[in-house]
This record gives sequence, C-alpha cells and structure tokens, in this order.
Amino acid sequence: MDSLRGRVGVVTGGASGIGRALAEAFAREGARVVVADLDEAGMAEVVGPIRSRGGEALAVRTDVTDLASVQALAGRAFDAFGRVHVLCNNAGVALWGGLETATHRDWQWVLGVNLWGVIHGLEAFLPRMIAQKEPGHIVNTASMAGLVATRGLGIYNASKYAVVGLSETLAKDLKPYAIGVSVLCPMGVSTRIRASERNRPAHLRNDRPSQAEPVELMGRSLAPETVAEMVLQAIFRNALYVITHDEGLEPLRRRFERMEQAIRQRKP
Ligand SMILES: NC(=O)c1ccc[n+]([C@@H]2O[C@H](COP(=O)([O-])OP(=O)(O)OC[C@H]3O[C@@H](n4cnc5c(N)ncnc54)[C@H](O)[C@@H]3O)[C@@H](O)[C@H]2O)c1
Repeated sequence: MDSLRGRVGVVTGGASGIGRALAEAFAREGARVVVADLDEAGMAEVVGPIRSRGGEALAVRTDVTDLASVQALAGRAFDAFGRVHVLCNNAGVALWGGLETATHRDWQWVLGVNLWGVIHGLEAFLPRMIAQKEPGHIVNTASMAGLVATRGLGIYNASKYAVVGLSETLAKDLKPYAIGVSVLCPMGVSTRIRASERNRPAHLRNDRPSQAEPVELMGRSLAPETVAEMVLQAIFRNALYVITHDEGLEPLRRRFERMEQAIRQRKP
C-alpha cells in the first residue's frame, strides 16, 4: 500500500503510547481512523485534535479480550467508513515477575490482552477485509520480547513470541489477498506500559499484589512518534519485521548462534 490517503485505519490500544502515535500518524497521512481502547478519556484526547484539524476519527470503547466487543468494534468501523484497510492489533499490557511465582490470573490477563486481543482482531476484521478486495495491511504489535527472552518477563515473552509466530504465518497466508502484514518489535518506548496494572480488570487481580519491579529495558527509549513513523514506512514497503532498535541486533544474533551451535554440536 503506497498511501493512506482516503483509507481507513483501526488502532487498538489507540488511547496511549504507540497506538496513539499510530492513530495520529495515520490521520496526518490523510486516513480516517478508528481508535479502540478501554480508556475513553484517553481516546477523546486522540480523536478531538484529529477532528479539529479537519480529519475523520471515531472512538469506540473496546475490550480486546472480549470477542463480542471486538466484533462490535468492527461493526462500528465498517458502518462508519464502509472499509477498513489497516488494522493495528496493538493493545497490550506488560507484567514483570518470575514464572515460578506467576498466578493463573496473571497468565489469563496477559495472554487475554496480548495474544487473544490479536486473535480477536483477526477474527472480527479479516473476513471483511478480504471480501472488500482492496489493498490492506495488518500490523500486530509484538516486542523484542517476542524474539529474545528476558528473565522476569516470562508471561509477556510467551504472549509476544506467539504474536511473532502468528504474524509470520499470517504474512504467508494473506499473500494471495494483497493484504500485507507487519509485526512490530520494539525495545524501550516512552509510553505508559509500566503502568499496565491500571488496565487489569478486578476479576483478574491477584489476592496479594506482586512485588516484582519492572525489568530495566536495554537500549534507548524511543518516542512513540518515531516508532509510528517506522510502522508507516513498513506499511508502505510491506515489510514484515519492524525492529525499531539497532540494539536488538546483538541479542538476536546470539540467539541464532546458540541455535546454530545446538545443531552443529549435536550427537548423534
Ligand atoms: N513501551 C514499550 O517499551 C514497548 C516495547 C515493546 C512492545 N510494546 C507493546 O506496544 C503496545 C502498546 O503499548 P504502549 O507501550 O503504547 O503502552 P500504553 O500502556 O501506553 O498503551 C497501551 C494501551 O492499550 C490499552 N489496553 C490495555 N488493555 C486493553 C484491553 N483489554 N482492551 C483494549 N485496550 C487495552 C490501554 O488502555 C492503553 O491505552 C503493547 O502491545 C506493548 O506490549 C511496548
């Protein structure tokens, strides 16, 4: 897809951080945008300025863990704009703590948002995106934590590795339909991700709050706007991987080298 002018983009987790920057970037490129999030006040801060600059933007309260809610989002988006060209499955939460102390609720919450949120996005939007027979693109937000494991981030790692794998297959599956796929794998980005607990629903809160501190992220912290620009370029070039940090190269190389060694040193 070489331009977003007149096209329609949907961004989950669009009230804050990377999602907000994506929605703003799409609007600047002339797209009509649908912002989906739990945070209604945050969404109003995104769609208000877009509209006052003459753009078209819709905010739809959505819980990506709930298929019916994401299907309702798709209904609103197609009703309002008739088409959806770019879908960003971006809503996510992070949770720190060793796997040996993880609770069932921790797993349910993080996989519910980070993995099932992406699956629900595909279930609700993909059939209609295929049927409309126009160029399209899907952006799934994973993380460098979906490519390299970090101690103390096990549940998050599991969710993001799944999103990377799903996206890699999706890119192959959607080739015949002219729908591109990108998987966004950032390291540190200056957002509210460290305050993810604000989004944990009451029924998935732990009886005793975890004492785990956020793991220090390696490398620089990028502005969400910088990341959004990289995503735009990936949409235009139909690039599968959006790896935002040069600092990611060494850990990736080491992981691959360990795998290579495992094959070379194997007996028999
Ligand atoms: N910030 C980083 O350093 C970083 C690094 C790698 C990947 N990521 C990923 O980027 C994505 C965006 O996160 P961010 O950094 O902008 O954080 P953020 O907390 O600023 O934004 C996340 C948004 O997701 C929304 N959200 C959470 N649960 C939701 C749900 N159930 N339904 C709908 N919306 C929900 C939140 O309300 C929030 O607006 C996430 O998938 C995150 O895992 C972030």
